[in-house]
Amino acid sequence: MNLSESFVSKLESNLPTSGNITCKSPSNIALVKYWGKRPVQLPENPSISFTLDECHTITSLTYQKRETKATEFSFEFYFEGERKESFRPKIQKFFERIEKYVPFIRYYDFVIDSRNTFPHSSGIASSASGMSALAYVVMKLEKEINPELTKEDMLKKASFLARLGSGSACRSLEGPITVWGKHEAIEISSDDYAVSYPFEVHDNFKNYCDTILLVDKGEKQVSSTVGHDLMHGHPFAQRRFEQASENISRLITIFKSGDLNAFIEVVESEALTLHAMMMTSLPYFILMKPNTLSIIQKIWEYRKETDSKICFTLDAGANVHVLYPETEKEQVIEFIKSELVGYCQKGQYICDKVGLGAQLV
Ligand code: PMV
Repeated sequence: MNLSESFVSKLESNLPTSGNITCKSPSNIALVKYWGKRPVQLPENPSISFTLDECHTITSLTYQKRETKATEFSFEFYFEGERKESFRPKIQKFFERIEKYVPFIRYYDFVIDSRNTFPHSSGIASSASGMSALAYVVMKLEKEINPELTKEDMLKKASFLARLGSGSACRSLEGPITVWGKHEAIEISSDDYAVSYPFEVHDNFKNYCDTILLVDKGEKQVSSTVGHDLMHGHPFAQRRFEQASENISRLITIFKSGDLNAFIEVVESEALTLHAMMMTSLPYFILMKPNTLSIIQKIWEYRKETDSKICFTLDAGANVHVLYPETEKEQVIEFIKSELVGYCQKGQYICDKVGLGAQLV
């Protein structure tokens, strides 16, 4: 039996009549980046991320059992209290992809109500928190139908479903560090879902901080979907995929030893490599903005002057994630306020830190 077959469910009886499940699920920031995929939403290389805490989506699923199985999925979607038709196609597609694994969804009329704790269209990807929150409430419903489902199996399947919605969303269910994609040194790792990082983590990484500088809140010119696709036939793709695995091996050693200089080197190199892949695609594109580069320059200067362990990472956009140990919080926030805020759109930034993943509210 192939792995994804093990998630197929036959649950179509003993369905609860009505109820509501509300949960919150965070965003995550990759340290080793996923860039390049094969159908359906399977990664070309393993990735590892910090789960965030403050930046999350709260999703409420109200369910009412129907008399008969619906021919179309039956759901209404509200975002921040307002009905949003524009979000329907994404959810429709998600339901189509997950139906085989959660067939009971056709027996319900759903009302889904979602809101984010971070500003909408801030350039922070809401698909990771949004899709993981939706996957989690659906799995909570499965747990009500089948109380024997263990918490561990529920989280694994929620991650599996979230992946079908948006790849990196599968890393948001657990925390503080998760791994997605098969890596030879991590036996439990899988391309189908993310797992909680299973090895020792030094205290240096406890409550690690991430301040997200909102450099550009505009629509991205090139979506992640298109970017992933451009890795097919990319001249550096194979070497890049190998490098990601090597960087995860390095991080395993770093997480154990607490070597922050080595951590900085891997994380910043990963961020720049991700953007180098974009710049060397055909067609090529650039998602960084001049202010992204100014911030990076300032961070390097500050590190040189102060011996701080501050570093940066980027996702598929212009915003900068500033990462630093909890012990440096006060000084780094001061530095951000005095030196970096000027590069942020409307001076906006969000202070976050590593978190533990999805939770019931
Ligand atoms: O999950 P997607 O398809 O939005 O891709 C996310 C890709 C990056 O954020 C750039 C890297 C990552 O691993 O999260």
